[in-house]
Amino acid sequence: MTTIDIDARFDPRELRSALGRFATGIAVVMARDEDGPIGVTVNSFSSVSLDPPLVLFCMARSLHSLKRLEKAKAYSVNILLGHQQEISNRFARPGEDKFSGTHWEIGPSGAPRLVPAHAVFECVPYAHYDGGDHVIFVGRVVHLHAEGNGDPLLYYRGSYRLLATPMEEG
Ligand SMILES: Cc1cc2nc3c(=O)[nH]c(=O)nc-3n(C[C@H](O)[C@H](O)[C@H](O)COP(=O)(O)O)c2cc1C
Repeated sequence: MTTIDIDARFDPRELRSALGRFATGIAVVMARDEDGPIGVTVNSFSSVSLDPPLVLFCMARSLHSLKRLEKAKAYSVNILLGHQQEISNRFARPGEDKFSGTHWEIGPSGAPRLVPAHAVFECVPYAHYDGGDHVIFVGRVVHLHAEGNGDPLLYYRGSYRLLATPMEEG
């Protein structure tokens, strides 16, 4: 019988560095409760399903906001524009008052949303799954805002990037 060797032959730094070769956009997940708004920068956002409309992101178990996010009745996933690096940095600082000086409003789902944003997915919770040292949040999209032609903020190998010139077709 073949046995599969699952002992890792790399350390967490190597894993993080290899994963950083996958270029992503950046989003800020926002929710609120009776103690006020919460927000977390993520690049673990992904589409899941069109019917029903599902998206996902992963949240570290160490986050101050985790318990509050798990209880949220609605949350928004705000895809950042190219000039919003400062917002990405602010919502990545643990525990701070991230919302002062940020322009946001309450969306139709009841969750806070960023204004402006490249796109906003307002969601209600669909499922939470164990993801090792993270929790996988799957949200059902209930409202969409995706207007304008601005460029997104990108993240690659630990640095922010902007879109390069589109490749010629063919
Ligand atoms: C570009 C970038 C992407 C990030 N992506 C994630 C992510 O997908 N999941 C996560 O848990 N933390 C991610 N973080 C770290 C969190 O934003 C940070 O730990 C969080 O804001 C702390 O929130 P807290 O106040 O709830 O502890 C990312 C940070 C940056 C700068």
